[in-house]
Amino acid sequence: MKILNLILLSTLLISSCQKRNESIVDKGETYRPKFHFTPPQNWMNDPNGMVYHEGEYHLFYQHYPDSNVWGPMHWGHAVSKDLVQWQHLPIALYPDSLGYIFSGSAVIDHQNTSGFGSLENPAMVAIFTYHLAEGEKAKRNDFQTQGIAYSTDRGRTWTKYEHNPVLINPGIIDFRDPKVSWNEVSGQWVMALAVKDHIEFYGSPNLKRWNKLSEFGNALGAHGGVWECPDLFSLKDEQGNIKWVLFVSINPGGPQGGSATQYFVGDFDGNKFSPQDTVTRWIDYGPDNYAGVTWSNIPATDGRRLFMGWMSNWQYANRVPTYAWRSAMTIPRVLSLTQSDNGLSLSSMPVEEIKSLRDGSEISLPGFLNAADSLSKEITLPKSEVEVVLELTRSSADNDFEIELSNMKGEKLLIGLHGESNQFYIDRRNSGKQDFSPVFGGKHFGHRIMKSNDVRLKLFIDIASVELFADDGTLVMTEIFFPNKPFSILKARAVKKGVNIKAMTIFPLMAISQKQ
Ligand code: FRU
Repeated sequence: MKILNLILLSTLLISSCQKRNESIVDKGETYRPKFHFTPPQNWMNDPNGMVYHEGEYHLFYQHYPDSNVWGPMHWGHAVSKDLVQWQHLPIALYPDSLGYIFSGSAVIDHQNTSGFGSLENPAMVAIFTYHLAEGEKAKRNDFQTQGIAYSTDRGRTWTKYEHNPVLINPGIIDFRDPKVSWNEVSGQWVMALAVKDHIEFYGSPNLKRWNKLSEFGNALGAHGGVWECPDLFSLKDEQGNIKWVLFVSINPGGPQGGSATQYFVGDFDGNKFSPQDTVTRWIDYGPDNYAGVTWSNIPATDGRRLFMGWMSNWQYANRVPTYAWRSAMTIPRVLSLTQSDNGLSLSSMPVEEIKSLRDGSEISLPGFLNAADSLSKEITLPKSEVEVVLELTRSSADNDFEIELSNMKGEKLLIGLHGESNQFYIDRRNSGKQDFSPVFGGKHFGHRIMKSNDVRLKLFIDIASVELFADDGTLVMTEIFFPNKPFSILKARAVKKGVNIKAMTIFPLMAISQKQ
């Protein structure tokens, strides 16, 4: 009997929550997450213009308000006081005669270099790509340019700059996604721009006039697809030295196929980026975290570098089985630099604020290993945070561990550690609907880059997605799935003898409000 092979089998059953979910009349809302940001309706892709200002975290996003598939892009808009609860605001930027409004960033112009605001009331300035569909149809190569717009009322109303575009196209089809920040060293605004197969840096005194500083990367990193959505920011390493991190999203060419975000660690002298090495690293080894960038203008008293990504993949984003709306963002994450087996690497952990969603009914299972073989609890698993502490006691081949989420239809999602290869995996091959794409099903692996035999895992499960944070966030995997009935059963098992499950805690999470 299979159970004899298991050191541990814990079956956690839900009844209350499951009944509620099953009775949902499907208005195309079945898979809407409960604590992730989603658009009120219709299409969403990349996060844009993320900036903190006067107590609010702004999130703009690529949005097509008239359909649930990609189309003429607008900037949707929402704000949050705590990165958890969101308030939807009216669309911030509409397409105009220069084109659709593609991805970009936003800054607070504290010194009023642009003249759009004042020192007392600095303007919020959005820097974005204009995509002129007519130009693309006419097979021109200069249809992507950069434009700016500003707001002096906390992002509520916007004025486009009368002399747009501010950066014209030299004749390169892919010329987009400006990420702008103030650079103290060179005393100017610096724009990182994705240009086909490399990043170009531009400098400006006032956000209106831009001159080219340097290029990076046409012979470095992954090049299986076009480069998009860069981000450039500094982070301190564990010794307190300032390092620079450059994000480059790429589509296709990610480690699991399709879209993914690679990053480089190095130095930036105000003009030019120099990487520490030639290793290709990914911020997330799951298939569903794309085009993520970080918030600007976070107060020094906070000091965190905060990240959010789009929880989908261009391979199937337009066809996933959600209808009233399409796509969610990842939970916000805090970034840091950690020395690992793979050199200086990025760690991502969920923001502390997300703990405010814990409803106090957690189930703690300490000394789990000595518990009975089988254990039943009722929990609201379809939206919960699960913490697991493992101890690896033997040689790697014995260190297999697995968590199984399943439903009454026998569909399952497997999340585990493969000891021999020292890799975590998420296996969604039998997780429910997948006929919308031939490449959706799959078992995806991510390598551990920490040596420790103490393994800490955090999982955030939200109806149709899981985010796995292992080894203090040095290995992250984000993955979506579409079960035909909610996953209501959780089993955890040490598959071989080399793993002790030291503790496991399940925190049911409350739904967030997404006020209109
Ligand atoms: C990335 C991307 C960007 C572009 C936007 C268009 O997902 O392709 O390069 O600006 O989406 O919606």
